[in-house]
Amino acid sequence: MSRISQRKIDEVKQAADIVDVIGEFVSLQSSGKSMKGLCPFHNEKTPSFHVSKERQLFNCFGCGEKGDVFKFVSLYKRLNYVESIKFLADKYNIELDFFEQNQKTTNLDRYFRINELAKQFFNLQLLNLESGNLALNYLKSRNLDEHTLNYFEVGYAPKSSNSLWENLSKDYHDFELINLGLVNKKDNDFFDVFRNRVIFPIHNEHGKVLGFSGRTFDNDDSAKYINSTQTDLFNKSEILYNLDKAIPFITRNKRLVLMEGFFDVISAHIAGVKECVCSMGTALTVNQAQMIKSHTDNVVICYDGDDAGVKAAYKALFLLNKVGLNVRIALLPEKMDPDEYIKKNSPESFRNLLKDNLYDQYDFVYQVIVKRHDLSKASEIESARISLFEYLHRNASSTIREIYLKKFGKDIDVSYNDLLADYHYFQLESAKLDNVRRRKELIKNSENSIRNHNKAVEAASKIVINYFVCYEEARDIIKDKVEQIKLSNPRQMQFLYALIAKLKDNLLNDDFQLKRDFVDITEDELKLFKKDYKKPFNEQEITESISILIEHKLSSESDFRQKMVSEGSLNSKELEEHMRKIEELQNQIRIIRRNRNGKKANNG
Ligand code: GTP
Ligand code: MN
Repeated sequence: MSRISQRKIDEVKQAADIVDVIGEFVSLQSSGKSMKGLCPFHNEKTPSFHVSKERQLFNCFGCGEKGDVFKFVSLYKRLNYVESIKFLADKYNIELDFFEQNQKTTNLDRYFRINELAKQFFNLQLLNLESGNLALNYLKSRNLDEHTLNYFEVGYAPKSSNSLWENLSKDYHDFELINLGLVNKKDNDFFDVFRNRVIFPIHNEHGKVLGFSGRTFDNDDSAKYINSTQTDLFNKSEILYNLDKAIPFITRNKRLVLMEGFFDVISAHIAGVKECVCSMGTALTVNQAQMIKSHTDNVVICYDGDDAGVKAAYKALFLLNKVGLNVRIALLPEKMDPDEYIKKNSPESFRNLLKDNLYDQYDFVYQVIVKRHDLSKASEIESARISLFEYLHRNASSTIREIYLKKFGKDIDVSYNDLLADYHYFQLESAKLDNVRRRKELIKNSENSIRNHNKAVEAASKIVINYFVCYEEARDIIKDKVEQIKLSNPRQMQFLYALIAKLKDNLLNDDFQLKRDFVDITEDELKLFKKDYKKPFNEQEITESISILIEHKLSSESDFRQKMVSEGSLNSKELEEHMRKIEELQNQIRIIRRNRNGKKANNG
């Protein structure tokens, strides 16, 4: 735990004027002695949220929330008290004097600071320097004005090869800039990763910069977007773009709108739908779904209207359902993303789409399956029918099934009873198919698992021999277990015992002549003994390999006894003994596996 001195807290409070801080998030008008605005903590149409410059306090007469600047930040940004002090200290460039501080947080703090400076650098390039003109014009041509660009802190990474590096390397180490994915090193030169791109800073939910995404804009043929590489801070599967700024709107509107791209989020924000985030184009992850769940119970998926978007929405739907979220879907016209929709129609029509035209799971699927087929053609009716049956078969209760079969019957002008008969036939056929498929899968799985087992044993055997020769640290570990392991073939076992004998006679380091000891050794086998200089000693690798080989020995014995049992030539006493032994072996195998997997999980 770290402690911040009262003196520092006062200093932060002095610097962080409450009207400035709140004014950044809530639009305030002066009213008598104080300032007034719409309360960010409850839903209201007329302002009852007061901020007093004189007393440095806020007070909402509607919902009763009140307090000082730290309280505001902690409510608004969902931080605890200490975090909110840190947040403001950071913002006003005040170094906190922690009595104790652990290494890890200082490093992360430094990384966040560097990213923050990079963000300011990019932002300055876009809005204040001539070199950013082309990028600025591009963004303006996409209807983003300076106010919006400031709000989202959009920037521009200049063309030159390393101006960000030049700017930051005065105060920070090159390795830090490289670790953050801002800079690359080639030979002895440093290059900015982002060059001549529009930059979107990507924040965590507390508003700290995790990394960046850069978009091309002048038709060069490189990737449309590049992102920060995976860094200590930037992990794409755990990021929702704009969540930090959307949180108060999510709270107020009791929902979150999930989109695909940056421009969608920004355009939606301008159109007045501010509870938007995006997963940056990639498939949604469980992590992201859980992040959403921690802020709201309701999600609206608003992906692109193309096939890819619809498919992605279909997948996201199940994932979001799984973490307990209520999901509705906005279906955009084919070939349109939210950004284009807003441009082609109007902000108002977009707001309405997200209010009155949302589909639930079944309606969405029905819409996609049925309404996007041309139901005047028999072949399309057939494919729609099969898709609908498949979906209902897997996902729907009989009530839902009846509703949608009736709907479909009306749409294609066929009676419900005829359709139901077809559906029953379909169920029968798919049950048969499922059976065949299941049996095939079982066989395939067991073949696969034997193959995987053999592969793992082969690899582990090689590692054990190789480590024994190459790493002194490994020798005792291996020698201790040699009785308990089985290598992938007897020949390797011979090698290992020979090596151990050499060790006993102290010959391993200076006088181990494999070719002399094993006259018939092949080139391939010799490779087992060669050191890979790129690979350092890795204790986890050797203990894991040994564990695999112990399991291999146990399971070979279990298999052998199983075979004896199934041959049926044992007397009852022998049979009992074999059965008892098999059970014991299986138990040991389970324990070994559990330990191994547990260790793996602990080591990430
Ligand atoms: P515009 O096409 O300019 O409207 O941008 P967009 O943000 O709408 O892009 P798009 O719909 O093509 O993609 C949605 C999101 O996917 C983007 O915001 C990016 O996060 C991501 N994305 C798109 N293209 C790429 C790419 O080439 N590389 C990476 N890493 N991400 C991409
Ligand atoms: Mn798009």
